[in-house]
Amino acid sequence: MTDIAVVETVGALRAAVAGWHAAGEQVALIPTMGALHEGHIALVKEGQRHARRTVISIFVNPTQFAPHEDFKKYPRTFDNDRAMLVEAGADAIFFPQVEEMYPPGYATRVLLLGPAAAGLEDRFRPTHFEGVATVCCKLFTQSRADFGVFGEKDYQQLKVVTRMAADLDLGIRIVPLATIREADGLAMSSRNRYLSAEERAIAPVLHQAMQALAARIRNEDPLFRAVTEAQADIVSAGFELDYLEARHAETLAPVTSLADGPIRLLLAARLGATRLIDNIAV
Ligand code: PAF
Repeated sequence: MTDIAVVETVGALRAAVAGWHAAGEQVALIPTMGALHEGHIALVKEGQRHARRTVISIFVNPTQFAPHEDFKKYPRTFDNDRAMLVEAGADAIFFPQVEEMYPPGYATRVLLLGPAAAGLEDRFRPTHFEGVATVCCKLFTQSRADFGVFGEKDYQQLKVVTRMAADLDLGIRIVPLATIREADGLAMSSRNRYLSAEERAIAPVLHQAMQALAARIRNEDPLFRAVTEAQADIVSAGFELDYLEARHAETLAPVTSLADGPIRLLLAARLGATRLIDNIAV
């Protein structure tokens, strides 16, 4: 096992990337908030398919959390993250402190339209995507990476970041990767560790309900009724449902039948104190 460079400043990050670019090597950035799991390692591997060098940022970004959300208790597991990234053969970790990303006097945010205002996550977390887009915009320009790898697990985030990178000519190609799941179908997430044993046993119902719903839609069952019944199934399994919706896979606009597709099913549901999100293609 070799070691991995840990850089904490924008200057050191830029110097590392500039060195690789000077050697003709492309760079993939994998933005994370740490608490890494196999889903993140799959993003690193995808980055390695596209670029010779991979940089993983680990930064629990305060601007994407509302005051009542889990910023303070968000899991911070740097030593374990670092060991996993060494094992994966990643080249560097960008591990900035909050002051490096948002120094005193910092006063700029990215203003988003389009997929960020689709009425899904943004309905429940109104300031979330502004914070995500701002930090991603900074990470892209700080790193000057050639590729940015994002999981489909956060589907609306993927669409927001892809749109922003294109609209602002950020010079980075956003690479999506399919959601990595546990054997029972639960989407891997750093927040799964909040689940009690009892909640963990119920959690796969989300994926099962979406799969059953996707099959009904493909069979041309009336879409509104199929979605309403799937919503009821999730609630009767013990979840508080924020949303389960069928949307156009690219624009995230509402759809009313299979003919309006390609369709993506997206949901967010709370199990006890833990909020889970997931999505699948129809
Ligand atoms: O998906 C995440 O972990 C975060 O939203 C991201 C993209 C690292 C930005 O903080």
